[in-house]
Amino acid sequence: MKGTGRALILGLVIPLAGCAVRPPGRLETSLAEQVKRNITVRGKQDNNPLPDTAGNIQAGRQNFSHYCMVCHGLDGQNTGVPFAEKMSPPVPLLTSPAVQSYSDGQLKWVIDHGIFPSGMPSNQGILSDDEIWQIVVYLRHLPPKGSLGEPAVYGGQ
Ligand code: HEC
Repeated sequence: MKGTGRALILGLVIPLAGCAVRPPGRLETSLAEQVKRNITVRGKQDNNPLPDTAGNIQAGRQNFSHYCMVCHGLDGQNTGVPFAEKMSPPVPLLTSPAVQSYSDGQLKWVIDHGIFPSGMPSNQGILSDDEIWQIVVYLRHLPPKGSLGEPAVYGGQ
């Protein structure tokens, strides 16, 4: 029993120690990405109850400019965010194929729950379901990079 326990502990500790000393390789990164896309991030089947109207895009843009802009810029493409590249993992372009290939329900899940342990925060209890769905509509209609200027908090207009 004792031996088994020790083997078990070593089996757990050694891989963890390995992770601490070397950056994840490409294979590990893509495995982590697959796990995230297919297991961690839920809500794949959930449909956005809100239609793609100009009003919903506008409302989503408003919500985004309050709750998301500090990290994602006004345009969802990091415009004017000084630390976007320095976060680990970095703040992604929300127009990128990796983000856009999530279903609407998965985007809602990401906004609801955040991505632990990265800097992407959970908004549960802060934004209502409708406000999050409006943001999802906006994420599907992001404007050209830079077209909304830089966030005022960082000295932009
Ligand atoms: C404090 C900074 C911060 C704020 C505020 C923030 N995000 Fe993020 N966001 C991040 C970081 C960092 C990532 C990268 C997370 C990762 O890849 O693990 C991210 C990733 C994302 C992703 C992609 C997730 C993925 O798995 O690729 C989406 C979509 C997103 N954020 C939307 C939003 C929305 C919408 C808001 C506002 C409600 C918001 N974020 C607020 C920092 C932030």
